[in-house]
Amino acid sequence: MSRKYAIIGVGHVGAAIAFSLVIQGFADELILIDKNEKKARAEQLDLQDATARLSSRPKIKIQDYSELSDTDILFVTAGNIHALDNASGNRWAEFEYTREIVKDIAPKIKASGFNGVLIDTMNPCDAITQYLQKEIGLPGSQVLGTGTFLDTARMQRVVSEKFNVDPKNVSGFVYGEHGESQFVAWSTVGVNGLPIKTLVPKMNLDLDALEDTARSGGWAVHSGKGYTSFAIATCAIKLSRAVLDDAQLMCPCSSYNVKYDSYVGQPGIIGKNGVEELIDIPLPAKEEEKLAASAATIKEKFATM
Ligand code: LAC
Repeated sequence: MSRKYAIIGVGHVGAAIAFSLVIQGFADELILIDKNEKKARAEQLDLQDATARLSSRPKIKIQDYSELSDTDILFVTAGNIHALDNASGNRWAEFEYTREIVKDIAPKIKASGFNGVLIDTMNPCDAITQYLQKEIGLPGSQVLGTGTFLDTARMQRVVSEKFNVDPKNVSGFVYGEHGESQFVAWSTVGVNGLPIKTLVPKMNLDLDALEDTARSGGWAVHSGKGYTSFAIATCAIKLSRAVLDDAQLMCPCSSYNVKYDSYVGQPGIIGKNGVEELIDIPLPAKEEEKLAASAATIKEKFATM
């Protein structure tokens, strides 16, 4: 099966995704689209040059929306990171810019007949992903955002450092907004299979401090290099592989939850049809309240779109 990927927006995140796809040999065909044609062309050339030293050689094309008609995975990564330069930790500062991007690209994606899975990384992720789904009209399962999949990775890193374990052996999820109202559902978090709540006393853990560090992880990276790229790209690609491999991967991402009438970060099963089902883990009342509040925040702001 030919694996055809497309990326709209080849800035830091889009370029990181493209490079990762090519060096890992994941793509048989790669379409790069950017409002700056010179940039798209330059990334195409740079990647084509790289294939001289790689075992795989994907066909790389640029700027042609009609190529989306048989594209399997479409990444939308056309955000403007500089909109966050003075955002003081609020991803909604990118909203004015990314809302206009959706108005521009959604009709073109719709007209192309794209019927694959769209993975959005643009911020504010949950609301923008919902806006993309609304404007393109694909089934909700086929339009998802990286959402708290990335925040969960940061929680895994922060907790793993405390216990000196591999982050992949920290289970559990960050729920809610890919933004300030996100929260770590500590009731779901385990370390090497042991519920973290049982480890708090002997490890003298401050879970609130760990949560704050995870929540601000993106800003810590942004303050140093002016953007984030590698972790978000890896999360986006992981989701795309779960789709193409029909992996039935259980992981958090931003998807539509009818209970809250909003896109929000929660665990689901990712397979060939995108988000195939949501996993409704019974949470303690306090965590349920945080999820409802976070979803309400997203819905309230989405209503302003
Ligand atoms: C971050 C951006 C992608 O958290 O919102 O890195």
